[in-house]
Amino acid sequence: MSEPKRYTVTAALPYANGPVHIGHLAGCYLPADIYVRYLRQKGKDVKFICGSDEHGVAVIMKAKAEGVSPQEIVDKYNGIMSEAFNEFGISFDIYSRTSKKIHHDTASDFFLKLYNKGCFTEKETEQYYDQEADQFLADRYIMGECPNCHFPDAYGDQCENCGTSLSADELINPRSALSGAKPIKKKTTHWFLPLDHLSDKIKDYIQSRKGWKPSVYGQCMSWLDDGAGLQARSMTRDLDWGISVPIEGADGKVLYVWFDAPIGYISASKELLGNEWEKYWKDEDTSLVHFIGKDNIVFHCIIFPAMLMEHGEFILPEHVPANEFLNLEGKKISTSRNWAVWLHEYLQDFPNNQDALRYVLCATAPETKDNDFTWKDFQTRNNSELVAIYGNFVNRVLVLMQKYYKGIIPKASNLTDTDKELLNSLKEASNSIGESLEKYKFRDALSKYMGLARMGNKYLADEEPWKKFKVDPERTETILYVATQVCAMLSQLGEPFMPFTSEKLRSFLKMDLMPWDATSKGELIAAGTEIEKGSLLFGIVEDEVVEKQLEKLKPQEKVEEKVFANPLKEEIGFEDFMKMDIRTGTILAAEPVKKTDKLLKLTVDIGLEKRTIVSGIAEQFKPEDLIGKQVSVLANLAPKKLRGVESKGMILMAEDADGKLTFAAPVDNVGDGSVVR
Ligand code: MF3
Ligand code: ZN
Repeated sequence: MSEPKRYTVTAALPYANGPVHIGHLAGCYLPADIYVRYLRQKGKDVKFICGSDEHGVAVIMKAKAEGVSPQEIVDKYNGIMSEAFNEFGISFDIYSRTSKKIHHDTASDFFLKLYNKGCFTEKETEQYYDQEADQFLADRYIMGECPNCHFPDAYGDQCENCGTSLSADELINPRSALSGAKPIKKKTTHWFLPLDHLSDKIKDYIQSRKGWKPSVYGQCMSWLDDGAGLQARSMTRDLDWGISVPIEGADGKVLYVWFDAPIGYISASKELLGNEWEKYWKDEDTSLVHFIGKDNIVFHCIIFPAMLMEHGEFILPEHVPANEFLNLEGKKISTSRNWAVWLHEYLQDFPNNQDALRYVLCATAPETKDNDFTWKDFQTRNNSELVAIYGNFVNRVLVLMQKYYKGIIPKASNLTDTDKELLNSLKEASNSIGESLEKYKFRDALSKYMGLARMGNKYLADEEPWKKFKVDPERTETILYVATQVCAMLSQLGEPFMPFTSEKLRSFLKMDLMPWDATSKGELIAAGTEIEKGSLLFGIVEDEVVEKQLEKLKPQEKVEEKVFANPLKEEIGFEDFMKMDIRTGTILAAEPVKKTDKLLKLTVDIGLEKRTIVSGIAEQFKPEDLIGKQVSVLANLAPKKLRGVESKGMILMAEDADGKLTFAAPVDNVGDGSVVR
């Protein structure tokens, strides 16, 4: 596309089922925000669109887990998420919700339009059904082994391990995520969007786009070139939470969340722009850019474009700059396992320090491959880059300016080659940084930006104005004039990356935000202008602070290790389970087994008889504390001799991540010999 007239920039609508963590920020929202802030400063017409994705099984499951309604879940998390985005300066023009009426209407109309054009095929198929939960299983309701990477806990719509998009039928050994039961197949009718006939058109479309990341392009092509062709996708679901399918005979069915959610970009644009919205979605001179994480690639590059093509009135995405994943301390970030740095918690621990996180996440963004966030690296980058280079440089300039000139910028005279070179670099900065940003190379852009601070810092260190002030006042004036220009440039071009700091610095310099291109004149602040003495831009992150953050992760780490060390065992049938005879019993006597530290010899009354059971719990329990305790016993375990004592059965214990034992016993006293199942 030649120079677009306007930009519609979207960031993936996050599921309203949990707070926002650093992975979300680094993967999607931060690069989108940097890009949009840049475009705005360039004076472009740009709209930045986002909102909560409030439908789908991910939301329903969370509601089940918290024991509340889906509505309560989305209300709660929509609030938490929009606040976090706001606090971190993610400058959406609108943050909407897919539960709004305008969205329900827009998505219904979109579906009807395709329906009336005959784009769907209505099919009765057999789908997985959980008899215990009395419910069809689709998407995240069904889990099993990924056919691609063999991750055991892939979902019916997607494997979170390898990012492959799946359909429930592809899962190996499927199981219900609700009950763990093996699902049966049951007939149900759904509306499918055939994609195969669009294959060539989609391929042409993707190949016509310039400058896509190889990873994104590659993932699309591997889909399109898959020998089996593009499979039709069901766009409806049997669920009671979502947008009702707007046609007759579809009672109890809702739109598939991946049908309605991307339409959410359109609904939010309507909400924001009123009658003006169409320009941003239908005019060929508009560049539509979707920022997403790599797990969303197929939906944004193939399925949503297919929907837009079938509809017929819309432009197609111009760019889909998807990022890879950010790991935390070497491990995959996981909401369910609480292995994450949550934005709202970061804010409590680092108040008013959003830019440090923005900086580190941009500097280490997973642009071309998965990347790792570590607290140590956060500390190093903060202390030795932000504080030692950027902050130190600005602070020295501001202090010297007060000390020597009461804050009034001196004149420059007799510029040396070094001065000229530095001023030249300033002139070129906006162009050079802009070039990287336009290619979605945010890390490069940021490193060029920090290069300015580095140059400034070095300039001061080399020129040593503090040694020249007395002996060569004229030279000192020039040095501080030049150094102040560097500060001014930092305050202008830092706006996309670190908006809070840039604004603060501009307030010290009494400057307004300038248009991006206007900074290419290099000298931004005139001699004679009075500036303030300011204050420090960044603070040191101490070792204790890093320690504290690592401490916070520790309990999770244990759980992780445990989960890792004790993966779920292979599935068994009900018959297998019923083979175990588990009974309640009461401990009548307990004594240590001689010459062992671990073993206790217990006498247990299991109702029908008294048993001798040897149990390896001596390190955690004293014999005298056990007398009278009711326990669960695996009663039909084959007898085994341990240290000369024959043990008949096993006491059931729960062992936590630290190896701490507790009895897996009835909560209330029941008669001995009761059957446990
Ligand atoms: N909610 C999805 C996720 O978190 C993303 C939806 S993006 C949109 O993975 F296109 F559907 F909006
Ligand atoms: Zn996989």
